[in-house]
Amino acid sequence: MSRKRVAVLISGRGSNMAALIEAAKAVDYPAEIALVLSNVPGAGGLAVAAAEGIATATVDHRAYGRDREAFERAMQAVLEAQRIDIVCLAGFMRILTPWFVGRWEGRMINIHPALLPAYKGLDTHARALADGATEHGATVHFVTPGMDEGETILQEAVPVLPGDTAESLARRVLEVEHRIYPQALRMIATEYTLL
Ligand code: GRF
Repeated sequence: MSRKRVAVLISGRGSNMAALIEAAKAVDYPAEIALVLSNVPGAGGLAVAAAEGIATATVDHRAYGRDREAFERAMQAVLEAQRIDIVCLAGFMRILTPWFVGRWEGRMINIHPALLPAYKGLDTHARALADGATEHGATVHFVTPGMDEGETILQEAVPVLPGDTAESLARRVLEVEHRIYPQALRMIATEYTLL
């Protein structure tokens, strides 16, 4: 079995990245985390990945000003140099252009902390609480040009409990994220192996 080479794109602490790294240690996992790429120099997840012996790279978006495509071309060069098959966005806080999304169509996935199509965008936990939602959750989906709009791969709900704050709800959702992201990547990587 040839394991698919995966890049995880992060901007911060990288707890979902860490969950993917752990899962990929299983001998039967169909993907390996070949690269962790951050747009934020010094993002916490970079040190975690490096300690696991995983190649890391930083492409600082600020160096490209408003030229999003120039930033993405720089990322693309790193991804191609590492012969990446699949991209996992994990707390990657940049909006991607149709050019970049098109390059990775069907091969780029994202984890979002809500039951899409509900609560696209930011501050999902606070918005769900403000609405009096009784359930919330996480979704892994394909990335398409519309933000948080691509086809769902896996989704799992958690209950909203009395007294929940945005923080307590985020913690409950994050446990789900760490479980379903590795499952979804397994599904996608297996599909490619069979193609
Ligand atoms: C997660 O809640 C993810 O769903 C969202 O950003 C957060 C990133 O957390 N897109 P981490 O960096 O994976 O810990």
